[in-house]
Amino acid sequence: MANVTVIGAQWGDEGKGKIVDWLASRADCVVRFQGGHNAGHTLVVGENVYKISLVPSGIVTGTLSIIGNGVVLDPWALKAEIEKLEGQGVTVTAKNFAVADNCPLILPFHRDLDALRETAAGKGKIGTTGRGIGPAYEDKVGRRAIRVCDLAHLDDLDAQLDRLCAHHDALRAGFGEPPIDRAALVAQLREIAPFVLQFAEPVWKRLRDVRKAGKRILFEGAQGVLLDVDHGTYPFVTSSNTVSGTVASGTGMGPNAAGFVLGIVKAYTTRVGSGPFPSELEDETGELLGRRGHEFGTVTARKRRCGWFDAVLVRQTCALSGVTGIALTKIDVLDGFETIKICTGYKLNGKLIDYLPSHAAEQAAVEPVYEEMEGWKGTTVGARSWADLPAQAIKYIRRIEELIECPVASVSTSPERADTILVRDPFEG
Ligand code: GDP
Ligand code: IMO
Ligand code: MG
Repeated sequence: MANVTVIGAQWGDEGKGKIVDWLASRADCVVRFQGGHNAGHTLVVGENVYKISLVPSGIVTGTLSIIGNGVVLDPWALKAEIEKLEGQGVTVTAKNFAVADNCPLILPFHRDLDALRETAAGKGKIGTTGRGIGPAYEDKVGRRAIRVCDLAHLDDLDAQLDRLCAHHDALRAGFGEPPIDRAALVAQLREIAPFVLQFAEPVWKRLRDVRKAGKRILFEGAQGVLLDVDHGTYPFVTSSNTVSGTVASGTGMGPNAAGFVLGIVKAYTTRVGSGPFPSELEDETGELLGRRGHEFGTVTARKRRCGWFDAVLVRQTCALSGVTGIALTKIDVLDGFETIKICTGYKLNGKLIDYLPSHAAEQAAVEPVYEEMEGWKGTTVGARSWADLPAQAIKYIRRIEELIECPVASVSTSPERADTILVRDPFEG
């Protein structure tokens, strides 16, 4: 089992970027398979801090990095991110970076539509990242997207633009917006096309060859299972499937390519944007978790909502994604708490249940049932072996393992790449 799939097992921001960066030096290739630049990963390597949204986190170690067809690609965001990375000394060339030529594009009017809808929804808004992710995926399944490969055929775009504009102009009119300026759009695409096309290729072929050569692939998920469009807290979700199964459709490889599924799990819970959050703490304890964990969004700088660890949710997401083992992150943030709570079940209409129901109103109505543990004295910050952890912290980790019915493969104890305890090497299966 040479490949590893990293997915977020909560609502995103679990620390996937750090773990992917940590594993990337032992992979031959890192591949994104869904989402877009709504993702935001912070990587800390010594003095250097990298903020990455669209390019696979493996780029920092120089590992071959590939954007699969399941991603929605904003070409201007791609250019800006690559320029920023290059400014930090990271080399990005067609040798170490490729983009699937069948990726749908995020265009400026997708971003506009995302914002118009959110504003119109008022209090009922989803709290999207405003990147145009949802509208771009809608156009993909609506069969009217412009894709990376179309950038090489801009003179033949008329029929596609007719379909696309007919749809969007009607929507825009509803919001009192003018129709799309087709000439301006084509001019913008013409300008950006050479930049994107230097990286474009049918990446499924490259991945097939990587696999044939017996090399290791690391699949990098974005967001988290609770934001999955099918399995998440619908409608407060993103517009892609974030579960591990998407590796197959989002890259052009078979489902057996996923290998070891590593679920990234934060030692407490956070969420950005609207939607149900059973173990949310809207009090001083929640504030403290946020302050200690620096819980501000990488993409939108929004304050993340914080709460205790919810074992019901993680047990569910591990099952939904076939998680082989978890990487537990940010245990250091819990240092110094006198007591720590874990949500072990929910009460719904007076009945005890052990899963998150599908219906939005029921998801909002469940009340957490907690068990309480003693906290630990001393620190876990920077621990790199079990021996460095206070006994009570180990007890907390073991209790989580038990409750979520999934083993811990690693524990992360600071933002720094090397501050990680390896329990079971996912590349060794
Ligand atoms: P991602 O979207 O899943 O990649 O996660 P983000 O990068 O958005 O958010 C995770 C944040 O926690 C980042 O700022 C990381 O640098 C930081 N981080 C990751 N692992 C740890 C850890 O074990 N301890 C602490 N204190 N911070 C961590
Ligand atoms: P990473 O990869 C946390 C959330 C948004 C919003 C919902 C829909 O850093 O873990 P969208 O813009 O995707 O249509 O927004 O999804 N969201 C994330 N939350 N981490 C992310 O990515 C997210 N990407 C999207 O806040 O609630
Ligand atoms: Mg993030």
